[in-house]
Amino acid sequence: MSAHEKTFPPDFTFGVATSAYQVEGGIENDWSEWERAGKLKEAHARCGLAVDHWNRYEEDYGLARDAGASAFRMSLEWARVEPERGKLDGAVLEAYRERLKKMAAYGLRPVVTLHHFTHPTWFHRETPWHLPESVEAFRAYVRACVPVLRGLDALVITLNEPMVLLLGGYLQGLMPPGLTDRTKLVAALENMVRAHVAAREELHTALGPVPLGTAQNMMDFAPDRWWHPMDRALVRLGTQAYNHTFHEALMSGRLRVNMPGVATADLEIPGARDSCDFIGINYYTRAHLRFVSRAPYLDFRFKDIHRRGLTDIGWEDWSEGFGYLLRELKRYGRPVWVTENGIDDRHGQRRPHYIHQHLKQVLEAREHGVDVRGYLYWSLLDNFEWLEGWGPRFGLYQVDFTTLERRPTPARDYFREVATTRRLVSPGALGAAPSSSLYIGEAQPSAAR
Ligand code: FCB
Repeated sequence: MSAHEKTFPPDFTFGVATSAYQVEGGIENDWSEWERAGKLKEAHARCGLAVDHWNRYEEDYGLARDAGASAFRMSLEWARVEPERGKLDGAVLEAYRERLKKMAAYGLRPVVTLHHFTHPTWFHRETPWHLPESVEAFRAYVRACVPVLRGLDALVITLNEPMVLLLGGYLQGLMPPGLTDRTKLVAALENMVRAHVAAREELHTALGPVPLGTAQNMMDFAPDRWWHPMDRALVRLGTQAYNHTFHEALMSGRLRVNMPGVATADLEIPGARDSCDFIGINYYTRAHLRFVSRAPYLDFRFKDIHRRGLTDIGWEDWSEGFGYLLRELKRYGRPVWVTENGIDDRHGQRRPHYIHQHLKQVLEAREHGVDVRGYLYWSLLDNFEWLEGWGPRFGLYQVDFTTLERRPTPARDYFREVATTRRLVSPGALGAAPSSSLYIGEAQPSAAR
C-alpha cells in the first residue's frame, strides 16, 4: 500500500455502535421474556440493568468523543415507545429526543436504528412478522418516532440484520418468537421487506428524504470440504440468500429467495424498488458450510484456518473476507456504511490489531472504487450479548458489570489515534503497551440482574 492509501479522507466517518436492549437496561420486551423462560446459554443470565446506558447516556457520549468518534449508532426500543399496542409513551419519546439532541451537541452524528432484534411483548402474540398486520404495526411505531427524528442530521437504519432474526427466530427457534417453521419464515421475510418500505414512506412523508437503509449481517462463506460439490453449492446458495436477499429486494423491488429445502420465493414488493439510500454491512467472520443429509441440509462452523486463533466467542478472525464482501457491494452503486465490526476479546489485547486489519480492508475497498463512507465499531461498551449473555466483551471500553464503571481498553486509544489523525498507523507504531489496569478478571453481573 502506498502512503496515500493509508489515509482516510476528511469526510470519512469514524463512529461507534450500540443497540438499546444491550446497553440501556430496565426494558421489558420479548427478550426479557425469553430470558425468563431460561433460553440463554446460561439459563439464569438476565439483561436486567444492562450497562445502565439509560441513565449514563451523557457519560457514554463523552466516552465516544474521547474515542475519536463523530457518529453514534443507537436504537430506539419499540417496547419502551409502545409498551401496549396502540399506547404510546410520550415521556419515552421525549427522552429519546433529548438524548439525540444531546448526542448531536456532543458532535456525534446520530445513526438511528428503528428495529434491533427486539419487540414489545404483545408483538408476537398479536401481530407476528408472518402476518401482514405486522407491517401496519411497524408503520404505526415508526410514525410515532417521527418527532424524535425531526430536524436531526441522522442516518436511519430501519432493520438490523433481518436475516439473523428470521433464521434464529423462525427456523432454528433460538431467538424470539422461537419458531421452526419454514412457511412462516418466508411470510415473515416478505413482511419485513414491506415493513422497511412502510417505514420509508412514513419518514419521507413526514421528514423529507432522510437517508435510510438497513444493516445486514454479511459473512464470508467457504466450503467445509473444498472438493465437495454439495459444500460448494451451499456456499453459492448461502452467499446469495444470506448476504444479498435483502439488499437485492430493496434495489430491484423483487424478493427472490432460493434456499432449496428451506425457503423459496419470487415476488414483487410494491414500493421496494430503489428503497434504500445506503448499504449497511455488519461484518464479523467467515463460516465454513457443510452439506448434511437432513433438513436444513446445512451445517456450519468457524475454523481457525490461518492459526490466528478464533476470537473469544469462537469466530474466525478473517479480515480478508470483509474485503471480498465490501468489493461485492460495489454492484449496488450505493454508498456503503460499515454499521458494525468488532471483536469479542476478553483480555483486550487483540482488538487494536483486529481494527487495524479491518480498516485496512476498508481502505483497499475504497481504492477499488467502493464508496465506503463510514466505519462504526461494535461496540462502544461491553454489553449484553443476546444468547451469550455476559461472557463476550466487544467494547472499546471495558465495563465492570458489577460497578458499571467504564475503563478504556488499548483499542480505545488506537481507534482515537486513527480517527483523529485519519492515518491507518499500525497498533505497534503507537507503542500501545497493554494497560496493566486491564483486566478486571472474571467480574460477574451483579445480583440485580
Ligand atoms: C450482531 C448484532 C449486535 C451484536 C453483534 C456482536 O449480529 O447486530 O447486536 O450482538 O452481533
